[in-house]
Amino acid sequence: MKNIILIGFMGVGKGSVAREIVKQSDLVALDTDDIIESMENRSIKKIFAESGEEYFRALERKVALWLQKEVDGTLISTGGGFFKVPNLSKIGTVVYLSAPFETIHNRILAHPDAAKKLRKRPLFQDIEKARKLHEERAAHYKKVADITIDVSGKEISEIAKEILKKVK
Ligand code: S3P
Repeated sequence: MKNIILIGFMGVGKGSVAREIVKQSDLVALDTDDIIESMENRSIKKIFAESGEEYFRALERKVALWLQKEVDGTLISTGGGFFKVPNLSKIGTVVYLSAPFETIHNRILAHPDAAKKLRKRPLFQDIEKARKLHEERAAHYKKVADITIDVSGKEISEIAKEILKKVK
């Protein structure tokens, strides 16, 4: 089976959906941010602060090449900017989790550890900037996706089921 790659904006629920898909199937999941943090032995926040965004994007491209070459039949959740890697479509079936900015913002704020969720995301420090980034990226996510799923108002279990049905 081809890999399934989840893309979408920060906080839309890529990680939660990935964990639910793992529960509902025999798939194993990887997360590109987790791979990068473990490669660097420091947090995304630290990588951005100490080495800059371009350094981080280069690591994303390196991970993307490795995924294309070495990984099959796996569920891959990604950071919100990973969709820009040039070989995305060669990694597997690209699934875009889509939701309006307000839905995403409210989802983060509803989390018991909302402050931490925001703090760990360098590009979500200024809400207006994040809103603009969401606006800029929305069309691009859709363009690179094989499947777009509107996640607003849906339970995580329902989204996972929908994805598994569509990729079969
Ligand atoms: C980013 C999203 C983050 C992380 C980094 C950059 C982005 O991942 O990769 O902070 O460019 O949208 P999440 O989507 O998991 O927050």
